[in-house]
Amino acid sequence: MQQREQWNSRLGFILAAAGSAIGLGNIWRFPYVVYDNGGGAFLIPYFFALLTAGIPILLLEFGIGRLGGGSAPLALSRLSRRFEWLGWWQVMICFVITTFYVVVVAWSLSYFFYSFNLNWGTDTKAFLFGTYLGVPDGVVTEAGWKLGGLQWQVFLPLAAVWLGVYYVLQRGVRRGIEKVSRIFMPILLVIMVLFVIRAVTLPGASVGLNHLFTPDFGKILPAFLGGTNPDWASVWIAAYGQIFFSLSIAFAIMVTYASYLDKKQDVNNSAFITAFSNSGFEFLAAIGVFAAIGFMAVSSGLDVKDVATAGVGLAFVVFPQIINEFPTLNGTFGALFFLSLVIAGFTSLISVIEVLIAAVMDKFRLTRKATVNWICGICALISLMYVTGAGIIFLDIVDHFINNFGIVIAGLLEVILIGWFAKATSIREENNLVSDFKIGSWWNVMIMGITPLVLLVMTYQNFTVEFSKAYEGYPFHALLTFGWLMLAMTLIVTFVLTYAFKWKTAAHEGGVQA
Ligand code: ALA
Repeated sequence: MQQREQWNSRLGFILAAAGSAIGLGNIWRFPYVVYDNGGGAFLIPYFFALLTAGIPILLLEFGIGRLGGGSAPLALSRLSRRFEWLGWWQVMICFVITTFYVVVVAWSLSYFFYSFNLNWGTDTKAFLFGTYLGVPDGVVTEAGWKLGGLQWQVFLPLAAVWLGVYYVLQRGVRRGIEKVSRIFMPILLVIMVLFVIRAVTLPGASVGLNHLFTPDFGKILPAFLGGTNPDWASVWIAAYGQIFFSLSIAFAIMVTYASYLDKKQDVNNSAFITAFSNSGFEFLAAIGVFAAIGFMAVSSGLDVKDVATAGVGLAFVVFPQIINEFPTLNGTFGALFFLSLVIAGFTSLISVIEVLIAAVMDKFRLTRKATVNWICGICALISLMYVTGAGIIFLDIVDHFINNFGIVIAGLLEVILIGWFAKATSIREENNLVSDFKIGSWWNVMIMGITPLVLLVMTYQNFTVEFSKAYEGYPFHALLTFGWLMLAMTLIVTFVLTYAFKWKTAAHEGGVQA
């Protein structure tokens, strides 16, 4: 049987895990989440979520992967045959994320090149939605969709990103993923530091930073503790949502990466290092982004709240405006920002696809080469739907549903199934045996008590909000097809993969029981 690959060194593993965690979520999502949820006061729910769910689940996933020595479905089925389907569902979540995440990396690549000549002009919004994405007027109505045809200016960078992904994944764990992480992660840090230094030395930077960090404790507390925000619970939910997506937990990535660990390798310390590097990077990005927003607000006489935004709007509308306003070296500043998005996004993207590759290789006993051909081929074809004029709307809906219902529910099931039904304590003890320091029984309280409780509340809240108003006011058919049916599809394929096919890999028989 083919020998399972392993990381070359512990540093390589940590860099790959940090490469997965540090992604688009850190740069374009985190700064706005902090600003919108109580500024400096948000640090309380943020660190609470990190310590009660983020790090405990990371420790759990590192443990499952290291002990199980296989992809998520294999490692979980080695804990109990009844858990295999959860592994496949997480694989399907990665499948869906792959198909749109790659497109955002492609947009970032285009904008990296555009920044040299400020090709987006003065009306950056019209450029993004009209010239670049080609979104037709009335793209989605009750009557149906206007697809707007394939957009070649998006297709070309997308093809380039796919070629890069294909090259890295073909080379495997050591020569591909580890090597790229070793090269790209230090480069990313240098780029981010340069970006932040330039941003904080801009006039008006302090205005942005004051808005970002001034604590508004009223926002995070219930009324009986002096809170002023009736929706205070949503702030805590936002903190958990950020931690899950940003740390790449609950969608099998960390299980897969830890499965390439030498069985004697430390996991506890590595989990803390990964988590704190991710948070450190997130804060760095937030400082850079809000310093730049402060500059923009002051130079155009606007309020920070009129400039601050997240996601597509921040990266591809506001940032190009900021870059336009720059006193000197606009292109360099723009290139630094978009290159950081490309690199952070690329290393996260390969981790998401590796989840699929590892699972298919394990179950069907295929070679890496054949598996990468199939997976990249199928995902690349499906990603083309986001290259049409209607692509950004598809992306918005799919992203919303997979985050709020896929990742959160998969996380909830993971902690309940493993925490309550699979002797979580023995995973902790096994981790402790090989680790630099030991994790105490507080971990069980988190995994078996606090995290399931919070995720349950989050799931309830997400369903309530979803049923109370149409997301972004999109027509029902759009939310049905790209939201609910998409989720149903992931579950159907999950059960087909679990029960319609037998394991071809003999290693399945000899699992390590936790
Ligand atoms: N953790 C990755 C991100 O933050 C997926 O984008």
